[in-house]
Amino acid sequence: MSQGFDVAIVGATGAVGQALIQILEERQFPVRRLHPVTSSRSAGEDVIFHGMPVTCIDIEEFNFSCVQVAFFSAGEECSEKYAKKAVASGATVIDNTSAFRYDDAIPLVVPEVNGECLVKMKLPALVANPNCSTVQMCVALAPIHKAYGVKRVNVCTYQAVSGAGRKAMDELATQTSQLMAGQTVETNVFPTTMAFNVIPHIDTMQDNGYTREEMKMVWETKKILGDESIQINPTAVRVPVFYGHSEAIHLETEKPFELDDVVEHLKKAEGLVLASDINAFATPMMATEHDDVYVGRLRRDISHPNGLNMWVVSDNIRKGAATNAVQIAERLPLAQPPEI
Ligand code: A2P
Repeated sequence: MSQGFDVAIVGATGAVGQALIQILEERQFPVRRLHPVTSSRSAGEDVIFHGMPVTCIDIEEFNFSCVQVAFFSAGEECSEKYAKKAVASGATVIDNTSAFRYDDAIPLVVPEVNGECLVKMKLPALVANPNCSTVQMCVALAPIHKAYGVKRVNVCTYQAVSGAGRKAMDELATQTSQLMAGQTVETNVFPTTMAFNVIPHIDTMQDNGYTREEMKMVWETKKILGDESIQINPTAVRVPVFYGHSEAIHLETEKPFELDDVVEHLKKAEGLVLASDINAFATPMMATEHDDVYVGRLRRDISHPNGLNMWVVSDNIRKGAATNAVQIAERLPLAQPPEI
């Protein structure tokens, strides 16, 4: 007799896939059998789950009817091709790409903010996991929106390269050593040299002059906070940091606030750690390997009566992707499979 769920991780050898395996272990998610799924490139390789090797399966050969949950983290194209087929086979899919986030029929969830929709969901179903920059911004904005109404947000991101996957991390490491050795750098993943540089271009350019990464923050924040009226003006920037996204958030509220009351609202918020001192802050390195969203540099905007500034940091691979996905799975009414 064996209890727990049969779980597939599509993209199991990738940056988020590896974190998913680690987080399922750490949070003791009841996994009966783990199925690591990849492309034919990594099929046959082993990943380690609870200290044991588990062999990756080529997605072309994988039968999703043998799992109750499938985490998809292998890029938009892969999700578009296989995620709905997986649901039709009986698996509940938690999709980490942007393939379904803007479909009104598919919930887009940050459990601390709008996780109540998961509890009574009819399964199997598809649930979308938001973009990493959106997750941490929504955790920080939600308590303020609830108390005062957030009218407008100006946000600049400082995003880690792990958000662009394993190859991007390798490219930053290689370029750093190439530049330190006075060699010519090679660039394949990023639009230009990433080492010792910052790049205000993530994802594709849109007709309106914003990047798709920036527009994701606009579309997704409105959907998660359930308020189309919030105005969001983002600039998304890639920085030579391996793990941890930072955001300088400047917002205006509808109602006036006292800073001490904002502190109390943020202190009570789930999944959020407020710096204890008004001048304190977190850095991406401090947030790495943690699941919380860290808020610091909280201060009134000296240029606007209802303005508030904050510095928000979180591990983009954990809370921005893998942890959020596992938290979604934890809240779903998954039915135990038959005993084997
Ligand atoms: P593979 O190693 O077989 O390419 P990252 O986001 O770190 O770049 O990782 C991407 C993950 O998604 C890897 O595990 C990769 O596996 C997997 N992947 C990429 N494309 C596909 C695909 N078409 N089908 C299944 N898995 C894929």
